[in-house]
Amino acid sequence: MNKIAIVYHSAHGHTEHIAQRIAEGARALGTAEVDLLKAEVLIAAPDALMAYDGLILGSPTYLGGVSGPFKSFMDSTGGLWRRQQLRGKLAAGFTVSSLPAGDKQSTLMSMFVFCMQHGMLWTGNPVLPEQHNGVPYDEAANRLGSWSGLMAQAGHASAADAFVPGDIKSARLFGEHFVLALQRLSGTVDVRTHQEAYA
Ligand SMILES: Cc1cc2nc3c(=O)[nH]c(=O)nc-3n(C[C@H](O)[C@H](O)[C@H](O)COP(=O)(O)O)c2cc1C
Repeated sequence: MNKIAIVYHSAHGHTEHIAQRIAEGARALGTAEVDLLKAEVLIAAPDALMAYDGLILGSPTYLGGVSGPFKSFMDSTGGLWRRQQLRGKLAAGFTVSSLPAGDKQSTLMSMFVFCMQHGMLWTGNPVLPEQHNGVPYDEAANRLGSWSGLMAQAGHASAADAFVPGDIKSARLFGEHFVLALQRLSGTVDVRTHQEAYA
C-alpha cells in the first residue's frame, strides 16, 4: 500500500470538504492508505511527512495566495528542506476560493515552487473539461479548466452545500489520478492503464 498525506488548512470547512472528496477518490482503488492532516497541527512535527510516499497540499486562496496558517506550515518544513528529506516524493496541490478565478492559480504556483524546492515530483490534474463533450457546466469534471492542480469554487453556503457536482467529481478524480501516478512510479501500473482511466 502507498501512503498518502493530504495536508490542508480550512478555516470554514470548504477546503476540508474538498480534501475529504480527494481522499475518497484516492481510497477507491484500494491501493493507498490516506491520512488527512491539518496543516496547523503538523507545524509542531513536520518530520511526520517523511513517512509518506505522496503529499497532496490544500489551502483556501486568501488574497491570491495560500492562507497564513498554510504558509506557517510550509515554513515549518525548513529543516526537512535543509536535509532534503522530502526529495522524490510525489506531490500535488489544490485550492478552494469563492470566485470562479479568484487568483487561485497563484496559490497553486506557490505550492508548486514549495514542492520543487523540496525536490518533490509534481503531478497535475490531467482531466479534460467535460463541458466540451456536452456535460452540463455545473456537472462537468475540471469545469474550471485547471491542469496545474485542482481548483474548486465554494459558494456562500456551508461546506456540504457549497459545491456544484462537477467540483466534487473533479476532487474524486484528482485523488484517483494521484494514486495511479504513485503506482506508475512504483511500476505497478503501466502508462496505458493510467491513460485509459481518463479516456
Ligand atoms: C482573508 C480572505 C481572503 C480571501 N481571498 C480570496 C481571493 O483572493 N479569491 C477568492 O476567490 N476568494 C477569496 N476568499 C474567499 C475564500 O477563499 C473562500 O471563502 C474559501 O471557501 C474559504 O475556504 P475555507 O472554508 O476552507 O476556509 C478570501 C477569504 C478570506 C477570509
